[in-house]
Amino acid sequence: PATSLQDIIAHAKEYGFVFPSSEIYDGLQAVYDYGQNGVELKNNLKTAWWKAMTQLHDEVVGIDASIFMHPLTWKASGHVDSFNDPMIDNKDSKKRYRADQLLEGKAEQYEKAGDEARGQALRNELGRLQGAEDMEGLRDLIIAEGIVCPISGTSNWTEVRQFNLMFSTQVGSVAEDASLIYLRPETAQGIFVNFLNVQKTGRMKVPFGIAQIGKAFRNEIVARQFTFRMREFEQMEMQYFVRPGTEMEWYEKWRDTRLAFHKAIGLPAAKLKFHIHEKLAHYANAAVDIEYEFPFGFREMEGIHSRTDFDLKSHQELSKKKQQYFDNDINPETGKPYGNYIPYVVETSVGADRLFLATFCNAFTKETVGEGETQKERTYLKLHPALAPIKAAVFPLVRKDGLPEKAEQIVKSLRSEFRVIMEERDAIGKRYTRQDLIGTPYCIAVDYQTLEDDTVTIRHRDTTEQERVHISELKAKIGHAVSM
Ligand code: GAP
Repeated sequence: PATSLQDIIAHAKEYGFVFPSSEIYDGLQAVYDYGQNGVELKNNLKTAWWKAMTQLHDEVVGIDASIFMHPLTWKASGHVDSFNDPMIDNKDSKKRYRADQLLEGKAEQYEKAGDEARGQALRNELGRLQGAEDMEGLRDLIIAEGIVCPISGTSNWTEVRQFNLMFSTQVGSVAEDASLIYLRPETAQGIFVNFLNVQKTGRMKVPFGIAQIGKAFRNEIVARQFTFRMREFEQMEMQYFVRPGTEMEWYEKWRDTRLAFHKAIGLPAAKLKFHIHEKLAHYANAAVDIEYEFPFGFREMEGIHSRTDFDLKSHQELSKKKQQYFDNDINPETGKPYGNYIPYVVETSVGADRLFLATFCNAFTKETVGEGETQKERTYLKLHPALAPIKAAVFPLVRKDGLPEKAEQIVKSLRSEFRVIMEERDAIGKRYTRQDLIGTPYCIAVDYQTLEDDTVTIRHRDTTEQERVHISELKAKIGHAVSM
């Protein structure tokens, strides 16, 4: 049977990957904490991304900007004026919904029932009303489509209001001096405002990129689907600054580079697809999502956007500081340097939590093994070894006769290379199962023969096959497999 999101949530909680935030107080909606195994997996994903973006690209460097930024940043970026979702309440159930999601759900229903044309027509109408910011039109459409509240079953809707997704707070301790600031809704702006700092101090030549991993915050109206849509989440973004007119070439290159990354970390090609945006955000002249097939369907995991000079130009306007770059390469058409311009930007933006969820869902494997009487189900996480929270677990067969000491020696000889643990409790079969459930790719068993000839068995997670190897081979053998 297909894996449900409920199976994923339960497994993530039971094995120390993801816990609801402040659970002892019954949790906080759309906020989650990563546990002892989750943090390792998430860190491994972030490291893989950082390496792929910076270490493997000479012209891409990283920064770590603050969550708080000058309030004008968000005026310039357009977030104060247009980072809104259309919100509607049901008067009976007092539940809040996103008007666009209600209509998209209806369109999906038509399509699932085979009426593609009606679904598409509804999507087109939704796009038109959103484009025109016609809130009344959205409400009329919800009523005309007979959409009822999933909780109360009534169609007693309020009007549709624009709801700004930014969280705000006060900076300063004295009320009169305090000023309203926002928690950043995207990390990208920290890069834009540092564009010249990095370009000058790093003597960067266009094209070049700036990468960043950091928290972002959005007051999502409807936050469901686990770590897919959170109010506090983490983004991994890269802004690539290019000469105007060359942006489409870079957009296509980064789109393909990013798809290749997802395949390299183990997401299967069949579960990934591009979704080209027809309706573009205020800053973009081209946009494509990389979608992953989650248990609830294909959904956006990463966005690649050609953002033109929108952001730098608005920052130049509001800050009154030139955001120009002098390009001394010779333009073959004029025979002169390209000179001063505001670079165009191609952005890649992936949510670390969505990538985590995709990786976790993809790794979750249930298999029936054995036959007849001995048939049983085996659950394991088929994670790329480089992403697994623990790379190897060392098991002394028994807790006596010097076997634990031998196992301890092996752990000590390996632990500066990769994460390896010792596991002595319970029968050996149970120990294998426990490691399977958290995705440990290698289990190393230390037995009496080890004391004689310094060999151990390695048991491979995916095949459960075992092989006998010399202790001196472990570092190279496992070290190689767990590097990306
Ligand atoms: N700088 C561009 C930008 O922020 P976006 O499409 O709004 O674009 C980029 O967000 C990525 O951030 C998404 O593809 C998604 O992976 C992640 N993301 C956005 N909102 C999120 C949320 N509420 N929870 C988890 N991840 C989110």
